[in-house]
Amino acid sequence: MTHISRLSRRAFTAGALTTAASTAVLGKGALAQVAETPESPIGPFYPSSYRGETDADFTRLAGHAERAAGQVIEVMGRVLDARGNPIVGAQLDIWQANTHGRYAHPQDPAVMPLDPHFQGFGRITTGSDGSWHLTTVKPGSYDSPIGWRTPHIHMDVTGVDSRKIVQMYFPEDEKMNARDELLRALGGAAPASVASALGDHRYKWDIVLIES
Ligand SMILES: [Fe+2]
Repeated sequence: MTHISRLSRRAFTAGALTTAASTAVLGKGALAQVAETPESPIGPFYPSSYRGETDADFTRLAGHAERAAGQVIEVMGRVLDARGNPIVGAQLDIWQANTHGRYAHPQDPAVMPLDPHFQGFGRITTGSDGSWHLTTVKPGSYDSPIGWRTPHIHMDVTGVDSRKIVQMYFPEDEKMNARDELLRALGGAAPASVASALGDHRYKWDIVLIES
């Protein structure tokens, strides 16, 4: 992967504020059986200059005795095609705010504290069953130049021949989710962006790409 090619594709995708709600249900294939995960704008805080750890545990950093602040959560799921088949080797670039609602990003104007023990970015490749698993802390809500945001996790998902920027939301945040303009803009497709609670601070969220 070259940073240049990925960044140029990223910029293209970021400019295409998608009509997710209108395309989310069936996608391209008449045989589609699962709802396509709605696309979201990439937002201003993609950590393009990130140089730290990129593993699947955002709560622990090498050399740090202290764990990240906040509620530790487990998020897991699969990357699927529209027929429900697992996509093996899909890449998920994941980024999120810390428990205080602050991104470790120079463009974040928030005055909430940074957390030196929190890994705000990671990269996961799906296994033979399309599965992925992330250990992190629940992100805080935040105010941003584009409006107030309910807690969410950003993901840039690359399958075999498709790629999508998505955001995952939390089922227990029903009232906050209802106030979030980006989530509301998804209309009838919004539920496909909300994870399922498995209990004990664990969540499940399948991501559905439309592959040709
Ligand atoms: Fe965000």
